[in-house]
Amino acid sequence: MEVKRLLYSTEDGICTVIINNPDTLNALNSQIINELDYLFDKIAQDEKILVVIITGAGRSFVAGADISEMADMDQNEGELFGKRGAYLFRKIETLSKPVIAAVNGFALGGGCELAMACDIRIASQKAKFGQPEVSLGITPGFSGTVRLPKLVGSSMAKEMIFTGKIIDSYEALRIGLVNSIIEPQDLMVKALEMAKMIASNAPVAIRYSKESINYAVDNETESASQLETELFAKCFSTQDQKEGMKAFLEKRKAQFENR
Ligand code: COA
Repeated sequence: MEVKRLLYSTEDGICTVIINNPDTLNALNSQIINELDYLFDKIAQDEKILVVIITGAGRSFVAGADISEMADMDQNEGELFGKRGAYLFRKIETLSKPVIAAVNGFALGGGCELAMACDIRIASQKAKFGQPEVSLGITPGFSGTVRLPKLVGSSMAKEMIFTGKIIDSYEALRIGLVNSIIEPQDLMVKALEMAKMIASNAPVAIRYSKESINYAVDNETESASQLETELFAKCFSTQDQKEGMKAFLEKRKAQFENR
């Protein structure tokens, strides 16, 4: 597939993906959704990639799903479009590697939903968040009603979704929608710093931790604890566990090999 609207490169195990359609503030049209779907499949298969950073080109992260594309959709087309977005975002959420959203600007509608499908959100001071769909006569369609209440609580999610208001990064931090706020010029530096820190740890242990946390968010404590025990136990069959603990005891830095 020819990828036209994304820029991506990998260095030291960190893949940076830039959504690059600044003329429409990186609005998600079918083409960008397809390209992201294709790219995240490639990322999943690439053993050299340990961490992903996703950001937007220009003054926007993603200003929502493409309104010009949605304007004439009927119910069936709406369903198909919603399914494609939801499927892509679930793929990102369940990717076997951490994904950091470096939110550089507008994260509205599908943009806020994309950020929420990532594992960690760091925001530029200039970032803006919101789910303004009801002002267009639709509900959030890429799992915003599902993930937002899990992150900020149902009451705050309802306030954001019912009013459609746009909040700044400080408010997003206050309500727990983002992990931290960074000066705009330092956003990618900080995202890379965090990605490098993650990439220096044991990849299998990170993969299992992500799986366990994702499961725990959606399930009750008993089965979640059981899964954690299973995954914890599986770590002891990995080379990285042997190396990690040996290195600690030998007072040196561990060299993990993702196996
Ligand atoms: N879909 C399609 N095009 C979009 C878009 C979207 N979600 N968001 C922005 N654009 C386009 C605008 O139509 C405009 O195109 P034009 O230059 O051809 O007129 C271009 O991006 C720049 O946007 P503009 O509105 O001129 O910038 P602004 O700084 O005045 O406002 C926003 C920025 C983000 C507040 C405003 O663009 C906006 O409200 N966008 C829609 C957000 C939204 O409702 N998202 C949820 C969709 S479900």
